[in-house]
Amino acid sequence: MVHALNDVGANPGRGSHQLAREAAQIISGTREKAARLFGCSDPKKALFFSNATAALNQAIKGFTWAAGDHVIATTLEHNSIRRPLEHLKRKYGVEVTYIHWNGRTSAFEQQIRQSIRPETRLLAMTHASNVTGSVLPVENAAAIVGEHAIPVLVDASQTAGHLPLNMQKMGINMLAFPGHKGLLGPQGTGMLLVEGAIEMEPVQHGGTGSFSEDPENPEQWPEKFESGTLNTPGIAGLNAALSVYESGQDGNVSRETILVQSLLEGLQTINGVTCYGPDKEEYQLPIVAFNVLDIPSQEIAMVLDTHYEIAVRAGLHCSPLAHECLHTTEQGVVRVSLSKYNTEEEINRFIEAIQEISESYQML
Ligand SMILES: Cc1ncc(COP(=O)(O)O)c(C=O)c1O
Repeated sequence: MVHALNDVGANPGRGSHQLAREAAQIISGTREKAARLFGCSDPKKALFFSNATAALNQAIKGFTWAAGDHVIATTLEHNSIRRPLEHLKRKYGVEVTYIHWNGRTSAFEQQIRQSIRPETRLLAMTHASNVTGSVLPVENAAAIVGEHAIPVLVDASQTAGHLPLNMQKMGINMLAFPGHKGLLGPQGTGMLLVEGAIEMEPVQHGGTGSFSEDPENPEQWPEKFESGTLNTPGIAGLNAALSVYESGQDGNVSRETILVQSLLEGLQTINGVTCYGPDKEEYQLPIVAFNVLDIPSQEIAMVLDTHYEIAVRAGLHCSPLAHECLHTTEQGVVRVSLSKYNTEEEINRFIEAIQEISESYQML
């Protein structure tokens, strides 16, 4: 990122001088790396956006919608899928079915089969809940809707960087993710990777540095969808993050997966703590959602921050339907997230902190 800012500093695709070409190489190298890592066969269809939300908006609003069209999603969607879908409902009369995930793949598959209609135009679903860390069987869902030639959009915001993802093998047509979560890249970066013959209209129009005489955005990818100057320093950082991720792909159970088990086991032994999330035998992303007694989750987060200097997120996490399912809309939940850089010692300190907080509230 420092190199891109200090030594390059030029606009990729907007000139033919050396520095502009170097900036363009940073961009195209990142497209190629992302496409290779996530099983997208054409790097030109690896598009840059400023976050996962912008990528998801392009995927959802890029289709031409009409009244009566139907979309299948889940109750675990983040607002970055739910709100664009609700917008389609209001604006075009599109209908949306939100399928409930109860941890059982067969029940989920059955609901998907039952929801498919002749008008179903898209399956848009998260790969994992950002509230509970439950991982959804996207591959199974994709196989079912694939029989009806329904395109599949997957929000991999929680899984990119944590779980292997291969669009071709998993039957995913569009994959969106941010740079700054599991990949540990910089904020202000996100991607939408597209596989196969998906036709979309750009959500944003403007200068692309090419075909300037044309009043419309060019038809060629990626320019069609990337109007305006790209975040070259951020994309350079994403490139570095992808390299670190790629070098750690050794097939072993990831460090944060082991840590999350100790965290969960520790929290479950504390009197007054309720944990939410997948059953023990299911895979759990490095996220734990919990509450202490009936104390507002925001209050616990504040105590953790001010007394222990531990940063967690509380409230509804932009995922209101997930909280309806957990019956935590009032209280919210405290969500603690780990990365591979966390230590066993930090897990122990966290468990001790929650133990102390729970005991002190019970003495009040
Ligand atoms: C599942 C999920 N999808 C989408 C997003 C939105 O990501 P961004 O803030 O990069 O737009 C988030 C962020 O929390 C998320 O957890």
